[in-house]
Amino acid sequence: MKYEIKDIKLAEKGKKRIEWAAIDMPVLKTIGADFKKRKPLKGITISACLHVTAETANLMIALKDGGANLALCASNPLSTQDDVAASLVKDYGVSVFAIKGENSKTYFSHINAVLDAKPDITMDDGADLVSELHKNRESQLLKMIGGTEETTTGVIRLKALWKEGKLKMPILAVNDAMTKHFFDNRYGTGQSTLDGIIRATNKLLAGRVFVVAGYGYCGKGLSMRAKGMGSRVIITEIDPVKALEANMDGFEVLPMKEAVKIADFISTVTGNMNVLDIEHFKIMKDGCIIANSGHFDVEINLKGLAKLSKAKRTLRDFVEEYVMKDGRKIYCLGEGRLINLASAEGHPASVMDMSFANQALGAEYMVKNGKKLAKEHQPAVYTIPEEIDKEIARLKLKSLGVSIDTLTSEQKKYLESWEEGTL
Ligand code: ADE
Repeated sequence: MKYEIKDIKLAEKGKKRIEWAAIDMPVLKTIGADFKKRKPLKGITISACLHVTAETANLMIALKDGGANLALCASNPLSTQDDVAASLVKDYGVSVFAIKGENSKTYFSHINAVLDAKPDITMDDGADLVSELHKNRESQLLKMIGGTEETTTGVIRLKALWKEGKLKMPILAVNDAMTKHFFDNRYGTGQSTLDGIIRATNKLLAGRVFVVAGYGYCGKGLSMRAKGMGSRVIITEIDPVKALEANMDGFEVLPMKEAVKIADFISTVTGNMNVLDIEHFKIMKDGCIIANSGHFDVEINLKGLAKLSKAKRTLRDFVEEYVMKDGRKIYCLGEGRLINLASAEGHPASVMDMSFANQALGAEYMVKNGKKLAKEHQPAVYTIPEEIDKEIARLKLKSLGVSIDTLTSEQKKYLESWEEGTL
C-alpha cells in the first residue's frame, strides 16, 4: 500500500483521537454498520481530498466497511492531523498522502497520487480533484462514475465549470443538503472559527469589536457565537438581502473601509478574494487581529500586506506580526488559511457526523445512479435527494433521544388539498 505521511509512529495517538470522534458520530456509525452488511461500494475506488482529521477518518472507516478501495489526500496544506493520518495507514489500511504544513508542490503531488489510484468516484472539499481531472487528466474522466463535493466554495467552482458546458462527470453537492449546511456551516464554523482564533491568540473577546466579513451560513454562525462571547459584532456584506438579514438579526452593518478602523478582530468567511486588501491595511486599527475561515487562502491579500510592512515575525504558533511603515501592527493568523483547521481541530464531530453521513450515502447514491445521470442528462451538479437528507435528520434526532410529531391523515389531506381556505 502506498502512502506519504509525517510519521507512522504517531498512529497510537491518532487511533485514540479517531475513537474519541466516533463517540459523537452515531449516524455515520449506523450507516457504517449497514454498509458492512450490504457492501454497496464493493469494488469501487474512491479518491478523497478532504481535511485529514479524526472525523474524516471515521468517514473513511465507514466507506471501507462498505467495500470501497480508498486513497485520501488533504484538501488544505495546514489542516492535516498527522497522528490521524498515521493511524489511518497503520490501523485501518487506508492509503493516505498528507503532511501538515506541506508546501504547494507536495500538496499537488498528493492530489495526483490519489488520482493515480484511478478512482470511480471522487470526494472533494474545494473541488481540487475534479479541477485537476478536467485540467490535466481528461482521459481518466471516461471511467468516472461521478463525484461528491463537501463545501460551498467547491460547489461554486463546479457550477461555474458546468455553466461553461465543460463539466464531464456528475457531481452531488453534499454542501447543499440541509443536514449539511444548516449545521456544519453554521454551528460547526461558528464554534470552530472562534476556537481557532482563541487557541492561536488566547485573547479575550468580551467587549472587543469583532468584524465578520460575509453573512452566509458560516458568517451567521460565527457572528452568533462571537456575540455570545460578548463581542460587539459588525458585519460587512456585498449582498443587500444578507446585509438586511444581518441588520435585522441585530448586528451593525458597515463597509469594510469603515469597519477596519475600529476592529479588534476581523474574520473573513466570504469565499471571495482580497476581501481584506491594501486599501484596508493602510487604515486598519493598530493591533488588529485578522484571520480567514473561508475555504481558500485568497481572502486576505497577504502579498499586499507584506509589501506594506517593514518587518514581519512569528510571535506565537499561527500568529504573524506585520509592522507597518507607520509603526502600526497587524497580526495575521494561520497564514490566512482556514483558521478553524490550522490552529484548532475543525468542526466538532457531532456536526461532521451529518456532513459525512451525506458523503457516505451520497457515494452510494452515485454508485447506483451516476452512470444513468450522466447518460440521461449532460453531467450536472445535483442536490442530495431530499429523502436521504430527511433520513439523516431522523437518525440524528434518534441518536439525540429527540422525538417529534407525525402528521395525522386529516392534516396530510389538508396539506395536499387546495379547496380548503378561509373557514
Ligand atoms: N471541515 C471542517 N471541519 C472539519 C473536520 N473536523 N473534519 C473534516 N473536515 C472538516
